Amino acid sequence: MAGAIVKYGIIGVGMMGREHLVNLYHLRTQGVAVVAIADPHLPSQQLALDLAHSFTWPLKVFSGHQELLDSGLCDVLVVSTPNMTHHRILMDIINHSKPHHVLVEKPLCTTISHCKEVVNAARKRPDILVQVGLEYRYMPPVAKLIEIVKGGNLGHVKMVAIREHRFPFLVKVNNWNRFNINSGGTLVEKCCHFFDLMRLFVGANPVRVMASGAIDVNHKDEVYDGKVPDIIDNAYVIVEFDNGSRGMLDLCMFAEGSKNEQEISVVGDIGKGEAFVPESVVQFGTREAGRDGVQTLKAEDHRIKYDGLHHGSSYLEHLNFLSAIRAKGEKAPSVDLQDGLISVAMGVAAQLSIEYGRFVSIQEVMNECKI
Ligand SMILES: NC(=O)c1ccc[n+]([C@@H]2O[C@H](COP(=O)([O-])OP(=O)(O)OC[C@H]3O[C@@H](n4cnc5c(N)ncnc54)[C@H](O)[C@@H]3O)[C@@H](O)[C@H]2O)c1
Repeated sequence: MAGAIVKYGIIGVGMMGREHLVNLYHLRTQGVAVVAIADPHLPSQQLALDLAHSFTWPLKVFSGHQELLDSGLCDVLVVSTPNMTHHRILMDIINHSKPHHVLVEKPLCTTISHCKEVVNAARKRPDILVQVGLEYRYMPPVAKLIEIVKGGNLGHVKMVAIREHRFPFLVKVNNWNRFNINSGGTLVEKCCHFFDLMRLFVGANPVRVMASGAIDVNHKDEVYDGKVPDIIDNAYVIVEFDNGSRGMLDLCMFAEGSKNEQEISVVGDIGKGEAFVPESVVQFGTREAGRDGVQTLKAEDHRIKYDGLHHGSSYLEHLNFLSAIRAKGEKAPSVDLQDGLISVAMGVAAQLSIEYGRFVSIQEVMNECKI
């Protein structure tokens, strides 16, 4: 595909699908074009078409992913449909006779068994690259903190604390995100991002998870088809890793009064680093130099041509995936299916821990054993 235009299709053009469309438009000088979309929801189709017309990109519109696959129009597909649909769509893409590379939005799927099915099917298609949309690692302050940690500046990482204090879940098409059965639960749906970051910072895999959480403030007065939403809006989660490191997540989704949405703290045996989003500030220092030695810097990435909804991370995610595609098998996607699977397993373990009131091991969720 080197030199030729890489043709993209977007399956699901709701909020995130259109965000991908705009990001890909900002990558047009890299030789990419969106040529097709698939979405059964007419208002989503129309909003995507309006955007494409403003970019003078002609789009072929399909109501389902199967017709888009059969059209043979695309080289790469972005799957940005509701979480519970990822499994069926991914299986159909992977099993299709024409190879399509795929960027699938997080979470990979909503259950471990569905994730495993996708991982196993993809193993049989070495001609297809699959990247999972765990894009927070590309946010400039997070990427800078990863660089500081991987450079050994903090020593051996012992503790990672991630606080996300933000606004409630937004309204989605047909309100799919109001129920655990569709989203996988809050700790899968949104917190897979943070579990992925914990793994990166500690450089190890999770062993067991303990969580406490509830739906205390949001969505309590909403009713859909006679049902009240069951998604939790706050939680504390503790994760133990196989190298002895510990992670902690502090999630609150009724915290609009926060300066930052994410505050990340990583402490090693030599020093401590912190990242703040959206302030885009990184701080780090050593035990030896103490408080007076703490350095503060503003994190920026000049490659970003479009900040969008996620501080440029979607742009960098596409740039990264495109370079893997252009490398024609010489380069693996930087966020692979294993990353997708483990981040879901940590979320599932956390959801179950709240239900059971005890530690839940990753092994037991990987084996899908209930007790
Ligand atoms: N990376 C991030 O930080 C981030 C942020 C937001 C959403 N997401 C993920 O993106 C995905 C989409 O979320 P959203 O916020 O855009 O939701 P949304 O409700 O705004 O849009 C989903 C779209 O998918 C369409 N759709 C539903 N079933 C479909 C099917 N079978 N085939 C094709 N289209 C279908 C819907 O009609 C809708 O237009 C989810 O997996 C979500 O978790 C990721």
